[in-house]
Amino acid sequence: MTGSAGKVVAVINQKGGVGKTTSTVNLGAVLARELGQRVLLADLDPQGSMSDHIGLDPNATEASMYDVIVEGMDPSKVIRTVHGLDALPANLDLASAEFDLAQAEDRNTRLRDALAAIRGNYDFILLDCPPSLGLLTVLGLAAADEVLVAMEAEYLALRGISQLMQTVERVGAALNPELRVSGVLFCRFDGRVTLARQVRDEVEKHFPGKVFATTIRRNIRLAEAPSLGLTILDYDPRSAGAEDYRMVAREFMARYAGDVIAGADDFAPAEEVEADILASMATTESQ
Ligand SMILES: Nc1ncnc2c1ncn2[C@@H]1O[C@H](COP(=O)(O)OP(=O)(O)OP(=O)(O)O)[C@@H](O)[C@H]1O
Ligand SMILES: [Mg+2]
Repeated sequence: MTGSAGKVVAVINQKGGVGKTTSTVNLGAVLARELGQRVLLADLDPQGSMSDHIGLDPNATEASMYDVIVEGMDPSKVIRTVHGLDALPANLDLASAEFDLAQAEDRNTRLRDALAAIRGNYDFILLDCPPSLGLLTVLGLAAADEVLVAMEAEYLALRGISQLMQTVERVGAALNPELRVSGVLFCRFDGRVTLARQVRDEVEKHFPGKVFATTIRRNIRLAEAPSLGLTILDYDPRSAGAEDYRMVAREFMARYAGDVIAGADDFAPAEEVEADILASMATTESQ
């Protein structure tokens, strides 16, 4: 992919704690360090968890995503390199972006415009979005080519699907016609639990071809690594967590290489899909 503009992938889910940040960091780490891809991780969450995870103290960074989006700073001046990865850090400053940009007519495309200048330097730019469908996620979706939905295999996790898909569709229609959902990745997965398998199967049925064959198993090493500021490759490269992200990264590359990703308009209307999934789950539960 050298020379061409990198793919921008927004990792989203408005539900908190589903594995967005863990996946952004560790998928990015494998792509960069083991598969030779040029990767930029960009933090769009005022919590700064992605920055924290790779050991960048979000509050100690002089310049951050806030400066890029609100002040129009050149992102190449903000990028830091750690563990062989380029990263655009964020911190709490970003929490006021929505307010600070209220009057800015071009606000929705500010991230896309900022990334345009540096896309050519990367194969993949992964955007770690916050747990909301507010302005920051909209900025991410407007800047993205692909959406990767991180998900937990729980009944309640299905409840937000229609809202999530609607947001993707709306941003696509208004700002970014090429935007498409490239995959759904189940994280913190416990395959021994019947419900988890059922949820995954239902989502697969409704989004054929979208669900990653690899699931990320629950693995304590993945939960421990951020407190040391390390990717899983640095913390425990032989752990199940590292193995799972290696598999995901290979699958991710194969999807792009083979262009097996269907267009976003392959989906039935989002509300119908959610209603359908919930209905069939209710039937299975009562059996
Ligand atoms: N496969 C896993 N096994 C065990 N723990 C995990 C796994 N994936 C993530 N975690 C842990 O679960 C918590 C939530 O994960 P993470 O921060 O990646 O989710 P998130 O979707 O980014 O959350 P937020 O919505 O707050 O940004 C973290 O403590 C993380 O270390
Ligand atoms: Mg997060």
